Amino acid sequence: MTLDFLGDLKRTHTCGQLRPADAGSRVVLMGWVHRRRDLGGVIFIHLRDREGVTQAVFRQGSEAHTRAEDLRSEYVIAVEGEVELRSPDTINLNLPTGEVEVVVDRIWILNDSRTPPFPMEDEVNVSEEARLKYRYVDLRRPRMQRNIMLRSKVSFAVREELYSQGFLEIETPFMTRSTPEGARDYLVPSRLQPGSFYALPQSPQIFKQLLMVSGFDKYFQIVRCFRDEDLRADRQPEFTQIDLEMSFPQMETIFAVIEPLMRRVCKEAGFAVETPFTRLTYAEAMRYYGSDKPDRRVPPMHSVEDLIPDLSANGLPLLAIHIPKVGVISRKERDDLKAFGTERGLRVFDDPKRLERDFPEIMPKIRDRVGFAEDDLLILASWGGEPKGQRPEETVYQASGQLRMYLAQKYNDRHKLLDPRRFEFLWVTDFPMFEWDEEENRWMAAHHPFTSVLDEDVEKLTANPARCRAKSYDLVLNGVELGSGSIRIHQREMQQKVFAALGFTEDEAKRRFGFLLDALEYGAPPHGGIALGLDRLVMILCEETSIRDVIPFPKTAKAADLMCEAPSPVPERLLRDLGLSLRKGEKS
Ligand code: AMO
Repeated sequence: MTLDFLGDLKRTHTCGQLRPADAGSRVVLMGWVHRRRDLGGVIFIHLRDREGVTQAVFRQGSEAHTRAEDLRSEYVIAVEGEVELRSPDTINLNLPTGEVEVVVDRIWILNDSRTPPFPMEDEVNVSEEARLKYRYVDLRRPRMQRNIMLRSKVSFAVREELYSQGFLEIETPFMTRSTPEGARDYLVPSRLQPGSFYALPQSPQIFKQLLMVSGFDKYFQIVRCFRDEDLRADRQPEFTQIDLEMSFPQMETIFAVIEPLMRRVCKEAGFAVETPFTRLTYAEAMRYYGSDKPDRRVPPMHSVEDLIPDLSANGLPLLAIHIPKVGVISRKERDDLKAFGTERGLRVFDDPKRLERDFPEIMPKIRDRVGFAEDDLLILASWGGEPKGQRPEETVYQASGQLRMYLAQKYNDRHKLLDPRRFEFLWVTDFPMFEWDEEENRWMAAHHPFTSVLDEDVEKLTANPARCRAKSYDLVLNGVELGSGSIRIHQREMQQKVFAALGFTEDEAKRRFGFLLDALEYGAPPHGGIALGLDRLVMILCEETSIRDVIPFPKTAKAADLMCEAPSPVPERLLRDLGLSLRKGEKS
């Protein structure tokens, strides 16, 4: 089969464009052979490009028909012909172009294709490994096309909205020093200074703060970040943030930027979102949902230790977990939920009959408090052992919160609360300033060390770090942490105090962040900001459950790119240039 040149042939329309009003016009379409049906006398081709599919018809007797006999899936062709209305019985309502077809009199076969490793359909039973190895083919599937195009629309909407709110788009370096966001850095060896390394940024945090010191109020960037951490469905080693920073803000100033941004972006994807978003403090989020990223599509938990003090141990909470419309559950299911709770340290009271018998006067009050209706599931949970952790009540909330979500997910087919098209945005504020690190036996910054402390908690920095709260906030959507931010420290003395509380010696702080500490002495304004995970946002808008499905070329759980086989060993010569050698026994 001979292939044709494109020459100066031009497309007149995309494959998603033609409508009945185009009947009678001559058109040129180009694309991929999506499907081919040979009915002997007539050959039908579904011609596909990113905009859609159009039916091309090759009638017997024409030269085009003879050439169309050679066509196979994924060949790349151009066709010229006349648009005709389809007869009523052949109209295809599943295609936007389904009322017309192009009767082809000329065809150009621009390229052939090997048989693709899997069909270009949404519903294919194919391993993710195969999809990632042949990613360029996988990305042709309609679902992936839609996801990547929506991602582009979202980025554009973000730019439009932030520009319209007066933000400046400014780039920050990729080859830089380590930024402390809590993960490992990806390092880049320096050839000109052997033995020295750049770190790829985990976020542009320090640079955006420096931009505020420089007077570039209202900065933003859609920026790639790099973190060497354990990967999950919502984590990639390189991912994209919508990162912004402002001078002179309160928390509400930041929220007033983000809420219209989210409304606009969601509208782009066809979802209406109501603002303002609910605000909960971290303490409230833990208390009602046992999580700092609550999924508010499921009802909250209620503390009931005041009603049945007998069932709560050590003054710790007793929680009523209420899941609507679960109906009857079997003995085995009851045992399973109990085991789930017990494994997490809870004492679970799962038998409604027994609770009614033991607490006949109190149970109606509990039902009232949670808003119980017939067919709902109601269980109680308290702590099963000695208090644990620096904030012991949180351990109980967290374990109960996990049980709550286990039940919500398990019975979703009954209550259907976890509807991906229902958006429950939420601000969680006033996070603890510090988290205790068991391994390192010291306090770590819960957000990052540049976060300022709530004015009323400054004394607790040293006196009671466990209860010291920060001016930090997360944007949460349906149980996913979409973004995180804070009002920053803008005075050197305070920054040094926080470094000290984190166990940095003065020398260490100077060595790692001396330039930031210096900058704070040259008229740093009060400032604050936030970063949203673009991949996570697009994932939810696309109703996907993994960010890999909204990233064109993602990595596996082992941080590998299966298509181009990265990471890969490098020749000894390159290592020598960089002044590096591998330890014995390790591959080069
Ligand atoms: P944080 O570390 O919370 O904050 O990151 C902000 C948001 O980025 C997304 N995100 C990720 N997405 C995919 N893969 C990952 N590995 C990954 N890690 C984080 C999440 C998260 O909410 N400098 C601060 C922000 C600030 O204070 O302004 C920061 O980076 O959606």
